[in-house]
Amino acid sequence: MSHQTVIVLDFGGQYNQLIARRVREQGVYCEVKPCTTPLAELKARNPIGIIFTGGPGSVYDPAAPQADPELFRLGVPILGICYGCQLLAHNLGGRVAPAQSDTAREYGKTATHFDPDCKLFHGLPAESVTWMSHGDYMETVPDGFRLTARSAACPNVAIADEARGFYGVQFHPEVNHTEHGAAMLRNFLYEICGAAGDWTMEDYKERAVRRLREKIGDGRVLLALSGGVDSSVAAALLAEAVGPQLTCVFVDHGLMRLNEGDEVEAAFSQWDIRFIRVNTEERFLSKLSGVTEPEGKRKIIGEEFIRVFEAEAKQIGRVDYLAQGTIYPDVIESGAGDAAVIKSHHNVGGLPDYVDFKEIVEPLRMLFKDEVRQLGRELGLPEYLVSRQPFPGPGLAIRCIGEVTKEKLDMLRRADFIFRDEIAKAGLAGTMDQYFAVLTNLRSVGVMGDGRTYDYALALRSVTTSDFMTADWTRIPYEVLDRVSVRVVNEVPHINRVLYDITSKPPATIEYE
Ligand code: XMP
Repeated sequence: MSHQTVIVLDFGGQYNQLIARRVREQGVYCEVKPCTTPLAELKARNPIGIIFTGGPGSVYDPAAPQADPELFRLGVPILGICYGCQLLAHNLGGRVAPAQSDTAREYGKTATHFDPDCKLFHGLPAESVTWMSHGDYMETVPDGFRLTARSAACPNVAIADEARGFYGVQFHPEVNHTEHGAAMLRNFLYEICGAAGDWTMEDYKERAVRRLREKIGDGRVLLALSGGVDSSVAAALLAEAVGPQLTCVFVDHGLMRLNEGDEVEAAFSQWDIRFIRVNTEERFLSKLSGVTEPEGKRKIIGEEFIRVFEAEAKQIGRVDYLAQGTIYPDVIESGAGDAAVIKSHHNVGGLPDYVDFKEIVEPLRMLFKDEVRQLGRELGLPEYLVSRQPFPGPGLAIRCIGEVTKEKLDMLRRADFIFRDEIAKAGLAGTMDQYFAVLTNLRSVGVMGDGRTYDYALALRSVTTSDFMTADWTRIPYEVLDRVSVRVVNEVPHINRVLYDITSKPPATIEYE
């Protein structure tokens, strides 16, 4: 039996993945499909509901993305958001027009009045704040629809044809600025689409294990394990499904954080799998010796990684399936723009070219990052593995400015551990998205005891971000920074100065190299 499915039809809006995540958070499976997806393909998914997303276009622009009119005859409830709402109105006989400057163009938090008799707003207060971002508005609404919400500037913030199950909102229920947005989506899913809430991670795990067993049969699977969340969870899922047929190659390049390699190894000892940890610290460090240029370091590490993996794969012999930890945001196809772009993401760059295998298995392809973490917990991976922050493939080499040496890496590992430890003790770990230490190449004079020191400066970096494309530096309380600083200079020889990085991205990047 498969899950009930809601389709999020993507018209190119900026919050489309967020809509899908919000739907799944309500226990309903959904998929994002480009608005150009053929009707037959959408019908084949047998959706219980369809959500039209927002988008940058204007429905009266001939080049704007359109919906197949047949969608309105499927008998499936539709919720149109922003552009999706205008599209609904436009297609069913209403009139959409550009808002005159001060009349109905709205942006930002907007006090909104709702009709609580509308199913979409059942059980919610009659007044609350919504998040608007639209330049067009509905001049006239189609026959059969009524107005179900208004703001001071706009009489038709929401429309509904409850007999046909069509609802449109000009605002964005998926963003947190809309006070009761989650409840509105819940109403759409449960009251209007009749969702059963059959999307749970426990259930997903069981189905995924079953599917993997069917697909893989008695084939052999090879996975390159980086120690990051995605490849670890992919490995755990495969271990559960086809343990004895699975080989995980964990290339420990010696550029991991304190104890990280041992933690990864320990986590996988619970399964009956072939776990190969290749300790290649010396090999990597000798290749990196004398290299100071950031891109040079990255290139060397990427290439060596592939060489090591290749050598291991050859020794293993027969491989039928190569597994990868690709996740849903990496494969969602965009619904707008001239060309649909599909990103193909490799956790470890460029792997498949040199290993002889039948097929790639990507067991996390349909999951968002937070779902991957949940699945990891469901599979019994320890919390420190599943909740870990992003860690770059080149590891500490790009956080150790200048030449990378074992001595410098060891200093950095200890200092980085102290920083993470103090953040955890202060209960702040959940409030920042990425935080780490960087060993700068700056040496300066200090005084310790009665003696002069001439040692390294450590930089602390912490950012708050939702997409890692832009980021703000985190306002860590001074007392916490102070504890880190005191511990680092006392516990880590040859660091005599601690700096806190107060640069956002842009203009800085998150990592230093
Ligand atoms: P930047 O430094 O570009 O980093 O602002 C953005 C995010 O990407 C991570 N990052 C990497 N992740 N391989 C990875 O898997 C890499 O080579 C790499 N470089 C940067 C970085 O940690 C941050 O989360």
